[in-house]
Amino acid sequence: MASRPGRRVAIVAGLRTPFVKSGTAFKDLSALELGRQVVSELVQRAEIPASAIDQLVFGTVIPSVQMPNIAREIGLAAGLPKSMDAYSVTRACATSIQALTNAADAIALGEIDLAIVGGAEALSDVPISYSRPVAQAVVAASKGRNLMEKLQAFHEVSAKDLLPVAPAIAEYSTGLSMGESAEKMAKENGISREAQDAWAHRSHFLAAQAWEAGKFAKEVMRVVTGRNFDKVVAEDNIVRKDSKLDGYAKLKPVFDRRYGSITAGNASPLTDGAAALIICSEERARELGLKPLGFLRAYAYAAVDPAWQLLQAPAFSAPKALKRAGMKLSDIDLVEIHEAFAAQVLSNLQAWASKKFADQYLGGAGPIGEVPDEKINPRGGSISLGHPFGGTGARLVHQALRELADKDKNTALISVCAAGGLGAACILERN
Ligand SMILES: CC(C)(COP(=O)(O)OP(=O)(O)OC[C@H]1O[C@@H](n2cnc3c(N)ncnc32)[C@H](O)[C@@H]1OP(=O)(O)O)[C@@H](O)C(=O)NCCC(=O)NCCS
Repeated sequence: MASRPGRRVAIVAGLRTPFVKSGTAFKDLSALELGRQVVSELVQRAEIPASAIDQLVFGTVIPSVQMPNIAREIGLAAGLPKSMDAYSVTRACATSIQALTNAADAIALGEIDLAIVGGAEALSDVPISYSRPVAQAVVAASKGRNLMEKLQAFHEVSAKDLLPVAPAIAEYSTGLSMGESAEKMAKENGISREAQDAWAHRSHFLAAQAWEAGKFAKEVMRVVTGRNFDKVVAEDNIVRKDSKLDGYAKLKPVFDRRYGSITAGNASPLTDGAAALIICSEERARELGLKPLGFLRAYAYAAVDPAWQLLQAPAFSAPKALKRAGMKLSDIDLVEIHEAFAAQVLSNLQAWASKKFADQYLGGAGPIGEVPDEKINPRGGSISLGHPFGGTGARLVHQALRELADKDKNTALISVCAAGGLGAACILERN
């Protein structure tokens, strides 16, 4: 039974590209192209008339300055009706969860009937900007009436100003990178290097096993890539098919070289990829003959001080979503948790189970409890599958629904931590 007010929202289809390490197989593609390919193929596979799509809600976390509304550009590039509404959202790593819940609310309210939601990220194609003095000089030069005036505009620009500015995966408010913030969480929550490495090994082992068993066949499409679109990529390329636990112990910490515990092995890698879902009202699914993969029962967001524990907001968003769904953690058959870092996953799980944490922060509601190991990320997670920021939320939702169907189970909790100290949680149900 739905617990959200308004019409019940069905997830009727999903698809993702392979997720690949940035700078590799998709290095010539943009987020727009990845988004275009996944949306086009999803619509074709679902066999829905393009005229039935009311809205496209999409996001990318590091957008191109030439394309501030990527959703609209994807709609146009995919050949969808020019009359179809489209807008872009961003909520860092929970961006495609935001796309899902925005469109789901519009469906619940009866404003629209059917939407495509998702996200794309091409970290191989990040915009490189210039310093403020160079930017000001370029604007001033564009107003110059002759060559002399144009050159004059640059007279205060120093050689240092000419260095390009690369985007940082760092918090604007604290200046700390994601990795440095995760190091802080590992230390404050007592998460050992051994536990992080064991989690990362588990992630790769389960992802490799799932690929081997053909579990991703309905989730992952082929992508045409290369400068001349002459190559095809059919599989993720980050999963370590021969993951060995002792291999992780040899890696050096990256973000705190002296005392740290986060390495290239137990962090999610910089990734290119895209993922999308089709969602609609239950009535619309029936009219179009679409069989729902599942329904969105409830969702919640939460925020914490980014200077405290940047990726700990799922400790608040998951209890909130369960409460909204009128459920307990023991009612949940499957937990799909985004693995930004093994240290963050273990910190979130520890907080969910901790009475001390609940007493201190959840106002006496008690901890939601411990998740049995077999219920968490049974096909691996972002450490092994990869994490294209904008696409991860849609990947988690689709993957969870496919796993529930395989195991003939009913309910899933999706949990995503995000930059800015944000957290997202969704409760899905198949019946
Ligand atoms: C951690 C990070 C800096 C590592 O980047 P990288 O150096 O490009 O990582 P690589 O995958 O090349 O791995 C480095 C080396 O470790 C090795 N390695 C990684 N995992 C291994 C394992 N399990 N066993 C053995 N070796 C391993 C790689 O093979 C590579 O070896 P090489 O240098 O001989 O080729 C990068 O992935 C990163 O910034 N991640 C965090 C992203 C982030 O902040 N995301 C936001 C989350 S919300």
